[in-house]
Amino acid sequence: DPELLADGELVFRKCKACHQLGERAKNRAGPVLNGIVDAPAGQVDGFKYSRALTAQADEGLVWTPQTLDAFLTSPRGFMKGTKMGFAGLKSDAEIEAVIAYLKSFPAP
Ligand code: HEM
Repeated sequence: DPELLADGELVFRKCKACHQLGERAKNRAGPVLNGIVDAPAGQVDGFKYSRALTAQADEGLVWTPQTLDAFLTSPRGFMKGTKMGFAGLKSDAEIEAVIAYLKSFPAP
């Protein structure tokens, strides 16, 4: 759905201070997000995750649309101790759109 993708691109502006997508993406304050939807958490090469994220990754956390929804609604509510300093997205529509946008950037 091209409109959903366009909306997602706008929502992703809120993420761009810390995250990059695409072939030339690099880790910044946050990890590269190529291929993140349905991927196991905490696996981006060269990124130093918080202990909180590493612990949940070790317990098997996978970034499904459902877990992404919970995390992006309230990063610190979903994951006490995360170093993702982001308040969260306010609406389900924003979350749905940004997940669709993330899906359009596959893993390398
Ligand atoms: C981690 C998405 C905004 C900083 C993550 C992860 C996802 C994500 C899926 C987990 C990655 C993994 O397990 O490899 C998003 C989205 C955003 C957003 C979709 C916008 C809606 C931000 C912003 C910042 C940020 C604005 C900086 C102020 C981080 C950091 C981590 C992280 C530091 C690592 C967390 C940790 O190790 O505890 N983000 N993020 N993110 N993000 Fe974001």
